[in-house]
This record gives sequence, structure tokens and C-alpha cells, in this order.
Amino acid sequence: MGNPVFPILERIAAAGRAFEGDEIGSRESLIELGRDLIAALEIPSEFLQRSFWAEPALSAHCKFAVEVKLFQHLKNASDAGISSDDLAQKTGVDVVLLQRIMRHLIAMKIVSFFNGKFFGTALSDGLAADNYQKSIDFCYDVARPSFNGFPEFFKKTDYKLPTSLTDGPFQAAHGTQLPFFPWLVATPPHLDEFDAFMSAYRAGKANWYDPGFYPVAGRLIKGFDPSNNDVLLVDVGGGRGHDVQLFATQHASHPGKLVLQDREPVIASIQDKKKLPFESQAHDFFTPQPIKAARAYALHSILHDWGDEEGIKILESLKPALKPGYSRILLNEIVLSEEHPTIAATSMDMMMLAHFAVRERTEADWKAILTKAGLKLVKIYSYPGVAESVIEAELAVAAYVK
Ligand SMILES: C[S@@+](CC[C@H](N)C(=O)[O-])C[C@H]1O[C@@H](n2cnc3c(N)ncnc32)[C@H](O)[C@@H]1O
Repeated sequence: MGNPVFPILERIAAAGRAFEGDEIGSRESLIELGRDLIAALEIPSEFLQRSFWAEPALSAHCKFAVEVKLFQHLKNASDAGISSDDLAQKTGVDVVLLQRIMRHLIAMKIVSFFNGKFFGTALSDGLAADNYQKSIDFCYDVARPSFNGFPEFFKKTDYKLPTSLTDGPFQAAHGTQLPFFPWLVATPPHLDEFDAFMSAYRAGKANWYDPGFYPVAGRLIKGFDPSNNDVLLVDVGGGRGHDVQLFATQHASHPGKLVLQDREPVIASIQDKKKLPFESQAHDFFTPQPIKAARAYALHSILHDWGDEEGIKILESLKPALKPGYSRILLNEIVLSEEHPTIAATSMDMMMLAHFAVRERTEADWKAILTKAGLKLVKIYSYPGVAESVIEAELAVAAYVK
């Protein structure tokens, strides 16, 4: 075998040219190739240092940064930068402690230092936004303890796959018997942080209704028939409506109504409902879908929260509302590749393992669950560099005849 580094460098050069030409997915390819390069070069001692010291310290420093508004102060200082004394004064942190933390953030390429001043970067300026700050709180306070507890939890359970929604790594880490969602509601401010995380973790990525992804005009708008129902799209379990809001912006001249559904406390927490371009409705997706014969029902990151049994119940509760040959189900979900799993897909699979005792699904898994619910997979639409695909499904012919 030749040196593995040179072929990677050649691929980096090719991906760099694609990136220069603004090719879709080229940025993500470059990041992936950067990881290939590190994996080919890094020796075990460096791996240990990075994974077990540098990265845990970095995430702890990001949590610290939220507490003292560090990224906001750097952003406000803009091109002038800020000295350690001024930053210490604004954050209230001991100047020596601050300098040490800042040095690690510089080494980890989160902030920069030049001519005696600290500067924010595009990354730290981005992280200063409220939804990322709340996401850091959620990831640090809720998700990370669940991952940290994996080895002990699995040892205790004799290395069996967790199957209970009330007794998994998350419950062990947080000393609760509540399932994840009720715990979020009962433990403020984690519901708020989680909703911010849901809107933030895929920001900057193409949405399923963006050009080149799912053909909204051809598959939803064309053939829309308000005599069936004047609802174009129901976003089932849509949180506070970040998806449906952007759908309305992206397809401003769409016909029909958009409806958001979620659990009662989530819908109740939406501000200024009247100003929004969609209607909202409290609906438990384990009960029959009240909106019949809409053109489409989107379920974004819903079924991956549940095992097959519950997933089938969710689909079966939706099924009687579907108009044969007209209504479409759009599952916006990860389709896990066995051969080329991406970090975006596997880290979500780990989140599912930790918090819901469930898994991300392969194409074969999706076909199986849809078939068991009496539905048919029509087509999977994917987009370069985006973890989640659109799995379009409809009533299986046998279900029409019943
Ligand atoms: C993983 S989040 C997905 C949110 C949104 N669709 C997205 O992709 O950003 C799961 C959503 O399901 C909602 N949910 C959980 N159980 C529900 C139920 N029984 N009925 C309706 N919504 C539920 C949660 O409140 C949450 O908003």
C-alpha cells in the first residue's frame, strides 16, 4: 500500500476547486477529507490528547462562554479586537483564568489573537446568537452527561440494547424515571433550550423544501385540490413552527393553508400566533389525525424518536386521514448508510441511543416500517451534505381497497 496521505491531498485539491466553483456539498466534502487527513496522520498519543483533553475542555469552555457572554463581547469588539484586561472586566472573570481559557480557544481555532488583542471569528460570532447559546446549554447540561454515562450504563445492563423509554442512559445520568420529553417539560429551562437546539442544529443546511431538494412545485403544489381540503401541508410534531415558517417564506405564493401541530405545551408557548403565516393546533400524534385529505403531512425527525411499535402507531393514526392517490407523507429523516455513515448520521444515532432507546434507520428499515403500517415508499430524495432525506410515502394500494 502506498502512502495514504497523497491520495487524500489530491482529493482535497479537487474538492477545493469544486468549493471555489460553489458546488453544492463541496464544503462538507472538504471537512470530511480534512478528517480523513487527520485520521491518516494522527498518532495515538495525539488522538488521546485531542479527544479526551482538548475537546472536553473546549465544550466546557463553550458552556463557560455562554455564562459570561464571551462570544458576544468578542463579536461586539468587532475588528478593533479586545485586550485581556478589557475582556476580563466585561466578563467578570479573573484575568489569568480568562487568558488560559482564551489560549485553549485560540488553539482550538474558535477565536483568534493578534497584536495583543482577542478577536471573534465567523464561528464564535455565529455561536453568539441566542439559539446557539441555548443549544450549548442543552448539549452540555442534558446530552453530554448521558454520553458520559454510556460505559457504566451498558456495563450495568450487561451490554444489552436499551429498550425502555424510562430506563436508558439519559435517565441514569439525570436520576429520573421520566421519558425525555416529559422531563424536558418538567425541568425548565430545558424545553426552551431543546426547542432552540432543534431550530439551530441543522441551520445553514438546505431544508427539504429548498430548490434542488424535494420538488415542492411538482409534487405538492401541482395537483393541489382545495376541494379535498384547503390545507396544503400539515407539519406534524413541528415544534414551534420553524420549518413551516421557512416553508412559507421559500414558497410565498403557495396555495392553501399551512398547519403546525405539536403537543399542547409547545403550541401554548408560541408567541404572537396571529402574525404567523400558519395556523397552529395542539395534537397528539398517537391519536387520529384531525385534518383529513391534506395534500401532505410532513413529519420531520419524528419517527426517529420512537421504536418501530410506536412509529407504526403514529403512521396508523395518520393513515385514515390520507386521501388515496392524493395525500403524501413526507418523512424528513436520516437514511443511515451502512457503507459510508457520516458523523451527522451516527452522532444523531448516538443521541437516539442515549435519550430514547431507539435508532436511526437504514433504507431497508424504512421500507419495513412503512410496509407494516400499510404504506408504500414512493421515493427517497437526498441533498449533498444534508443528513436528512425526504422519504415520500403514500397509502399502499392494498390499503385503498380496504
Ligand atoms: C425531535 S423534535 C422535531 C421537531 C421538528 N419537527 C423539527 O424537526 O425540528 C420532536 C417533536 O415531536 C413533538 N412531540 C413529541 N411527542 C408528541 C406527541 N405525542 N404528539 C405531538 N407531538 C409530539 C415534540 O414536542 C417535538 O416538537
